[in-house]
Amino acid sequence: MSMIPPPVEPFRIKMVEPLGRTTRRERDKLIRAAGFNVFNLPAEKVFIDLLTDSGTSAMSDRQWAGIMMGDESYAGARSFFRFEKAVRDIFGFAHVIPTHQGRAAERILFESVLGRNSAVPSNIHFDTTRANIEVRNAKAVDLAGAAAYDPDADLPFKGDMDTAKLESFLDRSAGRVPIVMMTVTNNSGGGQPVSLANIRKVSAVCRLRKIPFFFDACRFAENAWFIKRREKSYGSWTVRDIARKMFSYADGATMSAKKDALVNIGGFVTLNDSDLAARIKNMLIIGEGFPTYGGLAGRDLEAMAQGLQEVLDESYLEHRMRQVAYLGNLLDEAGVPYFKPAGGHAVYVLADRLLPHIPRDRFPGWALTVALYRESGIRAVEIGGGMFGRKNPRTGREEVPDLELVRLAIPRRVYTASHMVFVAQALGAIARKPERVKGVRIVEESRFLRHFTARFEEID
Ligand code: F0G
Repeated sequence: MSMIPPPVEPFRIKMVEPLGRTTRRERDKLIRAAGFNVFNLPAEKVFIDLLTDSGTSAMSDRQWAGIMMGDESYAGARSFFRFEKAVRDIFGFAHVIPTHQGRAAERILFESVLGRNSAVPSNIHFDTTRANIEVRNAKAVDLAGAAAYDPDADLPFKGDMDTAKLESFLDRSAGRVPIVMMTVTNNSGGGQPVSLANIRKVSAVCRLRKIPFFFDACRFAENAWFIKRREKSYGSWTVRDIARKMFSYADGATMSAKKDALVNIGGFVTLNDSDLAARIKNMLIIGEGFPTYGGLAGRDLEAMAQGLQEVLDESYLEHRMRQVAYLGNLLDEAGVPYFKPAGGHAVYVLADRLLPHIPRDRFPGWALTVALYRESGIRAVEIGGGMFGRKNPRTGREEVPDLELVRLAIPRRVYTASHMVFVAQALGAIARKPERVKGVRIVEESRFLRHFTARFEEID
C-alpha cells in the first residue's frame, strides 16, 4: 500500500457509467483479433482507457444543463454569443470562429496563411498541425530547447522554445514564415509547459519581424497552472489572469476544445487581424458551416462556454495536476521509468528502459501497450517507433525516433485516485518481470499515420 497521499476529488459523482470487466483469456483473444493494435479494440472491452485526454472529459451538471438550453438557430444563435463572450473573456482576441475540432481550426488557419514555400516554426508541432502544414507543401519546423528531448532533466519548463534557434531560423527564412506557433502544453514533448518568460521572448522576436504569433492552445489552463506553481512572481496570480497574460503576447490561437474546454467535441480559431479573420471565415463556410456555429450544434457551443469557466476553477486544476503527478509518484515507487517531470495531461513511460531486452526494431513501446491491455485491460498509446518510425525503403530496416514512449493520458474528471493505483500496479507488475513481454513486428501497414491501422504479430 502506497504512503503517497491521494489527491481528493473536488467533485462527487452524480451519474455513473459502469465499466465492464473482462478476463485475461478474453483480452488475449481480443488483442490478437485486433492485430495487436489497441486502436482496433472495441472500447467496451477496455477497463481503464488512457488512449487520450481528447474528447473524453466528463461534463458537469451545468454543462449538461447548458446542452438543454442550446439555441439551434442556423444563424445568430444565442449560444454562439455566449460562447464568443467566454472565449473573448479569457483569450482577449477580437474574432472568435468555432470549428468542429482542433484540426479543423488548424486547416482553415493554414489554408488562409500558407504559400507553397512557407515554413512554420513551433516548439514541437502536434501531428495534426504538422500534417495540416505539410499537406500544403509547407514546412513544419520544431525549435524546442534540448531539454524537451531529455527524459531525465527534471526542469520546470521543458516546453520552452529555443529563442536563439528561432531568431536564426527567421533570419535565414526571410519572407517564408507567415506565422509562428507555440504548443501549450507541449503534447509531443511529454506534455511539458512553456514559461511566461519564454512566451514573452518569442513574442518579442516575432513582433520585431512583424510575424504573427499564434498559440496551439488545447491545454492552456494546465499550462497556466504550471506557471502559477513554477514561475517566480506568478504564485499570487489567478490562473485566469495568467492565461490572459499568456494570450496578451500573441495575435491569435487555435484550440481543440476537446481538451481544456472539457467537452466531447468542439474547437475554434480566435485572432485580432480582421482581414485574416474574414479569409478564415470564408474557408469555414466552405468546409465547416456558418460562422455562428462552425460545424457544431448550438448545444455544443453552450457546453464549451461553460467548460471554459470550469477549467479555470483552481480547485479543479489543483486536483487535475495533482492526479497526474500522483500517478507519476506511484510509478516511481513501482520502479517504472517515465519522462520527467510528469506532464500536465499525461505520464509518458520510457518503454525502452522498462523493456531493455526488446530491441528498438521490435517496438518495445508497442509491446508494452499490448502487455498492459492483455494483463490488466488498460489502453495506452505508443509514441515511439510504431507512430514515428519509418521503414527505410532502400535497406528495409526500421528507422526509429529518439524516444520510445507510451503515453498514459488521463481523461479529465473521469477516473479516481484508486484507478491511478490500479494503473501503477499493472505497470509495476510488468516492471518486475519485463522478460515476459515479447517484441512485435509489423505485418501490414499504410503509407501515412500507420499506427492507426497497422497490424502486428508477436515475436517468440
Ligand atoms: N494540437 C494538439 C497539441 C493536440 O494534442 C491535438 C489533439 C490537436 C491539436 C488536434 O485537436 O483532435 O481536436 O483535432 N490531440 C489528441 C491527442 C488527439 O490524443 O493528443 P483535435
